[in-house]
Amino acid sequence: QQQVAESLLILNSFAQKYFSKNLTETEEGQSAALSYLKHRGFREEVIEKFQLGYNLEAKDDLVTILQKSQFSLEVAQKAGLVTNRNDSFYDSYRGRIIFPIHNQSGKIIGFGARVIKSNEKAPKYINTPENEVYVKSKILYGTYFARQAINKFDECLLVEGYTDVVSLHQAGIENVVASGGTSLTIDQLRLIRKHTNNLTIIYDGDSAGVKAALRGLDMALEEGLNVKLVLIPDNEDPDSYVKKIGATPFRAFVDENKKDFIIFQLEVMLKDAGNDTAKKSAVVNQVAETLSKFHRAEDFTKQQDYIRQCSGILKIDEGGLTTLVNKLKR
Ligand code: UTP
Ligand code: MN
Ligand code: MN
Ligand code: MN
Ligand code: MN
Repeated sequence: QQQVAESLLILNSFAQKYFSKNLTETEEGQSAALSYLKHRGFREEVIEKFQLGYNLEAKDDLVTILQKSQFSLEVAQKAGLVTNRNDSFYDSYRGRIIFPIHNQSGKIIGFGARVIKSNEKAPKYINTPENEVYVKSKILYGTYFARQAINKFDECLLVEGYTDVVSLHQAGIENVVASGGTSLTIDQLRLIRKHTNNLTIIYDGDSAGVKAALRGLDMALEEGLNVKLVLIPDNEDPDSYVKKIGATPFRAFVDENKKDFIIFQLEVMLKDAGNDTAKKSAVVNQVAETLSKFHRAEDFTKQQDYIRQCSGILKIDEGGLTTLVNKLKR
């Protein structure tokens, strides 16, 4: 097992160098992929820093090079780099831009591979399958490059995508990691909490990702995280928006639009409930449920504070909400 893990890391490192070379030193890479990245406003420094690359269009260029270099194609298949069809091996990421995914110590554990020309049939991104070194539920893209800044600012920004992370770095915002748009797992929350208690989720306004994030809220509270939310305007994401308005206005936008996630959830539910009394009392119960997740003694004042704010928004008695919360706590 240890040995398989070691082989996967060595192979991934080899593949990354190959992908990078393809991107910058081949005619196809330059004209198809590098020009695409530049056109999207990614500069050389971040392309290098994040070790972005390119897999050629040819059906088995990587396969051939791996064979020449005595790598096992079975291991390469496990790594997701090659695919076996009818007893032949093919490159998995043909014609795609490659985003290496690093672990805590900077080793490459997997890849995200993006199509260049969007097309109905192919998925936009292909990601490494689960294996001995790539366990999706335990990693967040960008952690390796974000750790120092997260510690320094005592805050972790969470975005949805690879390109959001790379773009924000380019804009000088480095305390940022990406979830891939799925809801956070307990291991991912703990990974964040090793560095900070302050999590700011920056998602597209119209995103399904926000709903996914809301589902993970109670778990984040139990872990003692303070969760804030920033919604990016419709049809933009952090990558496109920071490029549109610029780095300094983007920072200001984030600072001014940070919303407490508990209050946000309450307002969304209240809006849904409208004038329906049954629905409104379900909202009260849901809020009480959420507030009952503050288990830790040091979170007691935080809880008191929320009970005050939420009962105000709900226009209900503060004492009543306290009783309800305490009942659920037991
Ligand atoms: P998005 O669709 O928002 O892509 O998915 P993006 O990151 O903005 O990429 P660009 O700007 O179109 O190049 C957000 C994230 O969800 C995951 C990826 O991690 C992606 O970065 N995703 C999305 C997948 O894993 N597979 C997909 O097919 C699509
Ligand atoms: Mn720390
Ligand atoms: Mn999206
Ligand atoms: Mn995008
Ligand atoms: Mn996006």
